[in-house]
Amino acid sequence: MPKPLEGKTVVVGLTGGIACYKAAELVRALVRGGASVRVMMTAAAREFITPLTLQTLSGHPVATEIFNLTQESQIGHIHLADRADALIVAPATANCIGKIAGGLADDIVTTVILATKAPLLMAPSMNVNMYENVVVQENLERLRSRGVRIIEPGEGFLACGWEGKGRLADTEVLVAEVERAVTRRDLAGQRVLVTAGPNREAIDPVRFISNRSTGKMGFALAAAAWRRGAEVVLIAGPTSLATPHGVQRIDVASAADMHHAVRKNIGTATVLLMTAAVADYRPAHVAAQKLKKGSGDMQLDLVRTVDILADVAAHKGERIVVGFAAETEAVLENAQRKLEAKKLDLIVANDVAGSDTGFAVDTNAVTIIDRSGGREDVPLMTKGEVADRILDRVAASIHKPTAKRPARAPRAKFRTQRRSN
Ligand code: CTP
Repeated sequence: MPKPLEGKTVVVGLTGGIACYKAAELVRALVRGGASVRVMMTAAAREFITPLTLQTLSGHPVATEIFNLTQESQIGHIHLADRADALIVAPATANCIGKIAGGLADDIVTTVILATKAPLLMAPSMNVNMYENVVVQENLERLRSRGVRIIEPGEGFLACGWEGKGRLADTEVLVAEVERAVTRRDLAGQRVLVTAGPNREAIDPVRFISNRSTGKMGFALAAAAWRRGAEVVLIAGPTSLATPHGVQRIDVASAADMHHAVRKNIGTATVLLMTAAVADYRPAHVAAQKLKKGSGDMQLDLVRTVDILADVAAHKGERIVVGFAAETEAVLENAQRKLEAKKLDLIVANDVAGSDTGFAVDTNAVTIIDRSGGREDVPLMTKGEVADRILDRVAASIHKPTAKRPARAPRAKFRTQRRSN
């Protein structure tokens, strides 16, 4: 499966704001992601950064004029508008937002926008008072209501000296939004609950039992599900990974916390992806104070935790439930056994003994097994690509014509169902 931006043409429009220097980073990130990037700049944007910088980073001539014969023959505005798979204006000034809201087209950026049918994203960046001005907010609302994706600015110190909302969104956020704009939304209307990472079972206030999971596979799944149009809640054990853009994250530590969070959020979830390496045992007693060592050995009594997946799958209804089997031997046999025992729709068998298929690495190779015994071997690739392969199977089950489950979930938000123990 290609990366989300591979084979896609992304047109980046720069309008005149200090954040133009960050657009250079955006162009570079989009090119690195595999996109063919075409840049267009207003005269005001050229006061902040030169076309040469963006031409060098994008590898293509930059469009700056509408009435320039040479440019028009090489990179005509209609050509740009037609070729775009997505168009992003970053930074988008209040002036540009106002012009687009009002249907004006008096420079290359606004003209191409008016002529394109591609998805349009706008990333405002300006002084906080300007951003909060009622006219700007009204214009943004008008654009939103017409289907333009407005990428909210961040808060912080602004180049103008003020502090507040108005900073251009981070490059990773802009890239994630563009990736989503060019991706087929085959999970639109789905509510996907993902668990990821390890658990920590406390022994005393300073010690715990845990495992080697880092959560990378689950975080990749959460990011990919959002990109494909799903509403995503990610229940994460302790990990240092950044929350994927667009995903709602709930942090937990122990298996009991994770069980509680899953119960609380499973209500209207249409898909559960249980990637977490749930602790199977916890210390029978948690010492209130740090345990002191004695001269001899020490025994730790462990008791079983709840099997979250088996508990949830027991009343799964129409929900698609996917388990993950982390194994070091008899990988497929063990996975098949878990699929049946836990009554899952799919299980992803993962040999975690391999140096590039286990914990803490960015690659994986798995076998996806379905309830009818069908198997798909997914060879070594990035965890992001593996995530898409798994979601292809999930999407196929949702859209199967004979399946009884609805293609779209009812419109309720995630909500609390029952509370667990
Ligand atoms: N799982 C769970 N609750 C547990 C243990 C596991 O929900 N207490 C889930 C995991 O998230 C995973 C699947 O069950 O999706 C299989 O987990 P794995 O650790 O591979 O297997 P176990 O069922 O724990 O069996 P074993 O330890 O014998 O391998």
